[in-house]
Amino acid sequence: MLITSFNNSEKLAKKIAKKLNVKFFKTKVSSFPDGDLYLKFEAEVKKEILVIVESFQPNSNSVLLNILFAAKTAKDLGCKKVIFVCPYLAFMRQDKRFNPGEAINAKIMSDLLNNSGIDKIITIDPHLHRIEKMNDVFTINAVNLTSNHIIAQFIKSKYKKNVAVIGPDWESYQWADEISAEIGVEDTVLEKTRHSSRTVDVEVKKQINIKGKTVVIVDDIISTGNTMIKASITAKKMGAGKIVAIGVHGLFVENGFSKMEKYFDEIYTVNTIEHKTNNSKLDVCDILIEELKKRK
Ligand code: R5P
Repeated sequence: MLITSFNNSEKLAKKIAKKLNVKFFKTKVSSFPDGDLYLKFEAEVKKEILVIVESFQPNSNSVLLNILFAAKTAKDLGCKKVIFVCPYLAFMRQDKRFNPGEAINAKIMSDLLNNSGIDKIITIDPHLHRIEKMNDVFTINAVNLTSNHIIAQFIKSKYKKNVAVIGPDWESYQWADEISAEIGVEDTVLEKTRHSSRTVDVEVKKQINIKGKTVVIVDDIISTGNTMIKASITAKKMGAGKIVAIGVHGLFVENGFSKMEKYFDEIYTVNTIEHKTNNSKLDVCDILIEELKKRK
């Protein structure tokens, strides 16, 4: 087995390689003078199982092209099997045509990956909503792992008591309900109305007592941060004490992190996307290794 990455997930890829005691090499991705993609494997991949570890953020559009070129090239060079470890899978939020004429990103992305030479994709907490299962769109072996247990243990060890969990929108029940159940605390999932990709409102449907408690707001994706900010304002109104944000995938686009800072006492993310909010205890390395060891 060989492990490689392009630009987004080198740290995680190297850690996986070290723990598995297999070789890591960097794949060179750059451009010709005219802007065309240039990709070169810096190791012999013939007859190997090649694991490409690459998160889709930042620069999701380029990553998609890079991974397609890499997988096709690997197979062309005689590689036995290509496994794409994709800690953050982009394009999943546009899972239907919301307005006439729009592209359905999730379907196009999965279709391209299905036909790229990739044999298996492993991802963490993909945004499954109207698409309910990975197999609804992936015909290749597609495995989704969750960081819920890692997040629950982190909360449990850091904030010993008086904790409540909030999910900022309906879909976030997948994280809020499971995490709060594992810790043994109450949670509530808010209802979000999305007016545009940058404007949202949230309201409380199920009241719980969070007065003076440490409130942890958990979501899969923090993009602009606006959802988290609205949830924090609501938690404050409900009487929350300390307010903590935990996102699985911290994209923090358009100054999302600095906007969020004044609404949260602490902000953490899982290391599916490299960011200063990553915490050493919120690490998906071991669950990815466990899946890679299955070799199927
Ligand atoms: C979508 O429903 C996701 O779960 C997140 O709530 C959303 O992506 C967050 O986006 P933003 O940070 O831009 O509000």
